[in-house]
Amino acid sequence: MAVVGRREKAQSLCKSRVVVAITIGILLGCVFALCFPSGFLSISNPAPILNRRFAKSIAQVGSSLCESSERINLLKSEFVATSEKNAELKKLVRELTEKIRLAEQRKDQAEKQVLVLGDQKKAGPFGTVKGLLTNPSVLPDESVNPRLAKILEKVAVNRELIVALANSNVKEMLEVWFANINRVGISNYLVVALDDEIARFCELKNVPVYKRDPNKVIDSVARTGGNHAVSGLKFRVLREFLQLGYSVLLSDVDIVYLQNPFNYLYRDSDVESMTDGHNNMTAYGYNDVFDEPGMGWARYAHTMRIWVYNSGFFYIRPTIPSIELLDRVANRLSKERAWDQAVFNEELFFPSHPGYDGLHASRRTMDFYLFMNSKVLFKTVRKDAKLSKLKPVIVHVNYHPDKYPRMLAIMDFYVNGKQDALKPFPDGSEW
Ligand SMILES: *[C@@H]1O[C@H](CO)[C@@H](O)[C@H](O)[C@H]1NC(C)=O
Repeated sequence: MAVVGRREKAQSLCKSRVVVAITIGILLGCVFALCFPSGFLSISNPAPILNRRFAKSIAQVGSSLCESSERINLLKSEFVATSEKNAELKKLVRELTEKIRLAEQRKDQAEKQVLVLGDQKKAGPFGTVKGLLTNPSVLPDESVNPRLAKILEKVAVNRELIVALANSNVKEMLEVWFANINRVGISNYLVVALDDEIARFCELKNVPVYKRDPNKVIDSVARTGGNHAVSGLKFRVLREFLQLGYSVLLSDVDIVYLQNPFNYLYRDSDVESMTDGHNNMTAYGYNDVFDEPGMGWARYAHTMRIWVYNSGFFYIRPTIPSIELLDRVANRLSKERAWDQAVFNEELFFPSHPGYDGLHASRRTMDFYLFMNSKVLFKTVRKDAKLSKLKPVIVHVNYHPDKYPRMLAIMDFYVNGKQDALKPFPDGSEW
């Protein structure tokens, strides 16, 4: 009996263990079904739901299993394990959210591009793909300046023209400037007169002139704001030309025109500019290797260098990036003591980086022999038999302070055929 009793006891004990094991299995299954009704990855914010449901399940399990502390401990350890999983899931969700945000940003940019460029295309075969250089022109907006719009209708040719800003301080040079422009047969040019004297002078000489409205806020700010604000004025004035839908060849007045520049433009970039460079490397860019011997094996650091664009002679197309460039430069010049040419180049060339969105304007450097600065002429060209026989399109006396006599000498040399007209001048200025 005793044996039978022990056996029965053992059997019932065994049976009840099996029942308990199955019950726990089923309950755990229910708990997971409750917690992850549609799989692990589709839960957007699993943590609170998981914890709440799990706690509830634990309470139910606790009462139905008659508060067996062993089982509760088992479930507690399961709960801990699941909480850890929960943290991992949270991290995963964060990562996925960030990926989705980036993908949406990329999609947004791609859509904007498609809006501008038309249909999306597949990339062609190797060697045949070309990025877009030429941005579309803006829609002309005459309401910006109806009076200027009327003048430009008359003066511009193919919606482009040369523009120079002048006040009476540069009257002498201005006269040489438009004399050469007229001689070469250019009709599409305009002087923006910054004072009455220069406006009258232009009218007297039959030179197309545009006098700014003296009540314009930006002009009075520019005039009363000292030198820096005045150099900023150029970029604000230019903006209106672009808004009216015209391409502008902006020109300083210390420039001698020898041919018509409109026959030598590519017109494929937002900004096409003459350079302050004096040879292929400095004008068009080169890899300047910086040497730091202390770094041993990695002593050579490669850098990108290019001599600045000359902000006194550039062709600018009426596009959004062009107008953005003008705005950026004008804005900075109104706030900083800075050289307008340095700011112009920084805005044009510095790439986006943390905390800064760079400008995405396309650029082209003009041929430095055709659009020649006075360093190239006086240091190189005048001493070279071959080079001195080629006629540039323009010469800009930007490297020398004795601008007026050098302008006259350049005319003598290239226009009047005086072979030794350039000889009296030193290469550089003698302070
Ligand atoms: C400068 O570049 C031009 C055009 O690429 C080339 O014809 C000329 O030989 C180069 N000059 C020098 C000195 O390398």
